[in-house]
Amino acid sequence: MTSNRIVVGMTGATGAIYGVRLLEVLAGSAFETHLVASEWARKTIAIETCRRPDEVFALAHRTYREDNQAAAISSGSFLTAGMVIAPCSMKTLAAIANGLADNLVARAADVVLKEQRKLVLLVRESPLNVIHLENMLKLARLGVVIVPPVPAFYAKPHDLDEMVDHTVGRVLDLFGIDHALVRRWGGSSPVEQLVRLPEI
Ligand SMILES: Cc1cc2nc3c(=O)[nH]c(=O)nc-3n(C[C@H](O)[C@H](O)[C@H](O)COP(=O)(O)O)c2cc1C
Repeated sequence: MTSNRIVVGMTGATGAIYGVRLLEVLAGSAFETHLVASEWARKTIAIETCRRPDEVFALAHRTYREDNQAAAISSGSFLTAGMVIAPCSMKTLAAIANGLADNLVARAADVVLKEQRKLVLLVRESPLNVIHLENMLKLARLGVVIVPPVPAFYAKPHDLDEMVDHTVGRVLDLFGIDHALVRRWGGSSPVEQLVRLPEI
């Protein structure tokens, strides 16, 4: 069964702009967004963007409190296409990797995992320690898509917005959602013609 609902989680890693942009783009799509943001996501939105957290939350179709474990997205019977956490902190990554559903971000992700739906994590930390890497590996083995928001320089982004759009566009690709956010690599692109590959 398919659903046009996507759960969006936002946590307190740097990169609130990724979640904001994802919500903006999905607001203009046929998808319905169900947002849960952690307390530290609220704070990083305030610190890093020129938006107020409530303005950002208004982009979603429905917003839930982090401590509302009775929310619709807390149950597998509420059908969704899956969940994106953008950005995803190491703390939330660890909670998901260990089944510690102690807030609604982690619980909603736990539900997506148990229902075998798509879970996409824009994990952000640098450098990464072994605990971070092991948590990512554990989840990747369960089919979770680990998407560190790392810029694609081949796309020759002009500014930060284009870098962010590229990552958000690649996330939308994972859900099969049409968009024009990504300058795609093409076999006959002018960029490729500039590259002289060695003869073999
Ligand atoms: C400005 C700022 C940037 C942060 N950046 C990161 C980060 O990139 N990655 C990370 O794992 N935690 C980062 N943190 C720390 C998290 O906010 C903190 O671990 C928090 O407890 C995460 O909780 P949450 O996952 O429930 O949002 C940052 C905190 C602040 C204030």
